[in-house]
Amino acid sequence: MMRIYLIGYMGSGKSTVGKGLAKSLNLSFIDMDDYIEERNMRTISQIFEEVGEDGFRKIERKALFELSEFEDVVIGTGGGAPCFFDNMDVIKKTGKSVYLKGTPRILSERLMNSKVERPLIKGKSEQELVAFINETLTKREYWYNQADVVIEFDHDLSDDEVLKAVVS
Ligand code: S3P
Repeated sequence: MMRIYLIGYMGSGKSTVGKGLAKSLNLSFIDMDDYIEERNMRTISQIFEEVGEDGFRKIERKALFELSEFEDVVIGTGGGAPCFFDNMDVIKKTGKSVYLKGTPRILSERLMNSKVERPLIKGKSEQELVAFINETLTKREYWYNQADVVIEFDHDLSDDEVLKAVVS
């Protein structure tokens, strides 16, 4: 049985990388945000609007508990998921964790070009986004760095690079 968690900041490519990795290892891929949206019949933005970030974090924690029982999966977690409650302990106890450690440069570049709605960074200018990433990433790395595998990058990762790092 195999369960792999991809963790990392918004824009680190958890979904893209996760789909490729799942395919290479013959596992299913599940995106935690998609799972939350389906289970709650609301988009992430609607959940933030209705119950705020605190409410969202509780819903996210419940989703993590549910997903931590899925087998033979690659789970792309939400960017904040490992950094609240004892979620990172749950992740570490129930699977192999892989931190996609993008530089602030590549994260901001991707997030500026992304069409995905992300309530935490909505409406930010490029300058504001860079400042926000630098501030929050420093805090979040305390959790992210606890991952079993850390993949540092400043370019688009190939499926091969990821696979090598994960199975090494
Ligand atoms: C968040 C990241 C998002 C989503 C929510 C909050 C965060 O997921 O869970 O908007 O706190 O970093 P992605 O990392 O998939 O964008």
